[in-house]
Amino acid sequence: MKRRIARFAVVCSIATSVAAALAHADAPPSPAKHPVAAIQDTETAAQRDARMAWWRDARFGMFIHWGLYSVPAGYWKDKPVPGLGEWIMNDAKIPVADYKKFAAQFDPTQFDAHTWVSLAKAAGMKYIVITSKHHDGFAMFPSKANPFNIHDATPYKHDPLRELADEARRQGLKFGLYYSQDQDWTAPGGAAMDGRWDKAQDGDFAQYLHTKAIPQLKEILAHYHPDVLWFDTPTKEMTPQLASEIVALLNQYPQLIWNNRLGGGYPGDTETPEQFIPPQGFPGKDWETCMTINDTWGYKSHDTNFKSTDVLLRNLVDIASKGGNYLLNVGPDSHGVIPAPEAERLRAIGHWLDVNGESIYGTHPTPFADAHGSFSSTEKDDNGKPRWIPTWDWRATSKPGKVYVHLFEWPGKTFHVADATVHATGAYLLADPHHTPLKVTQHGEQLDVQLPAKALDPIDTVLVIETKAG
Ligand code: GLC
Repeated sequence: MKRRIARFAVVCSIATSVAAALAHADAPPSPAKHPVAAIQDTETAAQRDARMAWWRDARFGMFIHWGLYSVPAGYWKDKPVPGLGEWIMNDAKIPVADYKKFAAQFDPTQFDAHTWVSLAKAAGMKYIVITSKHHDGFAMFPSKANPFNIHDATPYKHDPLRELADEARRQGLKFGLYYSQDQDWTAPGGAAMDGRWDKAQDGDFAQYLHTKAIPQLKEILAHYHPDVLWFDTPTKEMTPQLASEIVALLNQYPQLIWNNRLGGGYPGDTETPEQFIPPQGFPGKDWETCMTINDTWGYKSHDTNFKSTDVLLRNLVDIASKGGNYLLNVGPDSHGVIPAPEAERLRAIGHWLDVNGESIYGTHPTPFADAHGSFSSTEKDDNGKPRWIPTWDWRATSKPGKVYVHLFEWPGKTFHVADATVHATGAYLLADPHHTPLKVTQHGEQLDVQLPAKALDPIDTVLVIETKAG
């Protein structure tokens, strides 16, 4: 129940910042609203397009939740703890001193940056975002600002973020860091959304920010030069004034992309729908659905509820058809290993992308008006609104001169659309090495393409429709 309230609060705070961001899109930005103007307040539209260009083309990224919570792996005092793996300290109300003891057991000797980055690359992912500090306050990097970190508090002593940042860049991937700026359950004064449970947590939020969060943000920005900074769970403690101190720091890195979860009324760059795909996306805005591959972000040894490759791939396509990015999470264990069922699914998606990548990367949303779903009259979502029930027949993405129709269900002899505002000049299947021309007939907005008898791919066969303007 507690967890549900916390999640609801997250959704509400995101909904508020979404509303703020939308209000922003209509009116010209007014830097005066913020104590310190952020990059989004001051840059021109062309500067913004240039800053966001790689991110908009990327479409697919790897989220990695890795931290001390991988040691208990979902168990406390030999009992499974329901909920998210990385929330175990909160959910089991583990005292600060006891939680800190996990550090002595954290020795991920099997961690290998090359293996992880190569997996992301094989999956067709273009960027990585890894937790540098989650709500438990444990820093996954050597930190002079606070001793509760991987270098000073564990037998491991390495700097996995250094190795990952370097390897990601070597393999041509962008590198981003998640940092829990607001919640911190082991630092006095750090916020705890569900309420504190240990006297050791008592303290002043501003002081926590000044002595831990801001100094650590300085460290990670200076040491790893992340391309993305991913904030989380803003609470009301993060006033506009306090948030503006962080913004002043972010402003020193003018290429940085940061999400809408800083707090203090700053909308950031990206909307972050969590665990769902918005029915219409966020037209005209940059957005990224973050999603777990099973039911937890941080590793839980007994969570084997992995989504199938079909579901994951369809999600990627659905998101791309609405102009968003898919940030798909993996949860490595305390030895430093990404669980095999997760790696296996990522590789399968990568094989599909090897053939069909041009229908995803750098694409624009669907040019068709089909909704591919409807709102349920009986079921409600987490916000109490009617739940969106998608249909999984097909989706479309586009590029100048091409529409990519992703056929999840083989429609039979013809693919038909009734609202084709494009002018079709030809068609072929992307997975057909010869790109054999398919017969196209168009009468006004009625478009038909003749298909071969069988799909070429069990999950998604991409039909390319060539178009010309007018
Ligand atoms: C939530 C959770 C957190 C997770 C994040 C990812 O807000 O609090 O554990 O890191 O979502 O989006």
